[in-house]
Amino acid sequence: MSAARSRIPPSKRAIDSMIRVDQAGEYGATRIYAGQLAVMGDRSAAAREIAGMAAQEQRHLAYFDRMIAQRGVRPTLLQPFWNAAGFALGAVTAAMGPEAAMACTAAIETEIDKHYAEQRDQLADHDPELSDAIADFQAEEVEHRDRALAAGAEQAHGYPLLFAAIRAGCRLAIAASKRI
Ligand SMILES: [Fe+2]
Ligand SMILES: [Fe+2]
Repeated sequence: MSAARSRIPPSKRAIDSMIRVDQAGEYGATRIYAGQLAVMGDRSAAAREIAGMAAQEQRHLAYFDRMIAQRGVRPTLLQPFWNAAGFALGAVTAAMGPEAAMACTAAIETEIDKHYAEQRDQLADHDPELSDAIADFQAEEVEHRDRALAAGAEQAHGYPLLFAAIRAGCRLAIAASKRI
C-alpha cells in the first residue's frame, strides 16, 4: 500500500502543510522545555537531561524555520497559542515533579514518532531533502522518548492518565496546525 502511495507525489499544498505542522510542533517542543526549565532551574539531573533535549529541539525548529522561509510556506496562525500552551504544559508538568516532566516528553515523543513516520511514508522518495531531515529528527525524538522513560516517566503520579491526556492534546495540536 505504501509502495502504491509512493508513486503519487504529494502536492505542494500537502508538503506545505507538513512543514507548517512540523514547524509548529518543534516550536511547541521548545516552549514546553522552556516552561519545564523555568520551574526546575538548571541544577538537577532531570534539568540537565531536559536542557540537552531542548538544544536538539532548537536545531529541529531552526530547520523548519528555514524551510518556511525558503519555500514560502505560511506559518501556523496558532503560534501565539502554542507559545503560551507549550510553556504552560511544561511548567505544570515540571511543578508536578521530574517524573511528570519526563512523562510529558514520553507522551509527546510517542505521538511525534508516529507523526514523522506517517509523513515519511507520504513523502516516500519525492522530497529527499525534507524526508531526510524528518528521519534525522525522528531518530532524536525516539531517543528523547527513551531517555524520558529511563529517567522515570512511568513513575509519575497518575502516569496512564497523564500519558493519555498529553498524547490526545498532541494529536489535537497536530490536526489544528496542519490547517490553521
Ligand atoms: Fe523535535
Ligand atoms: Fe523531541
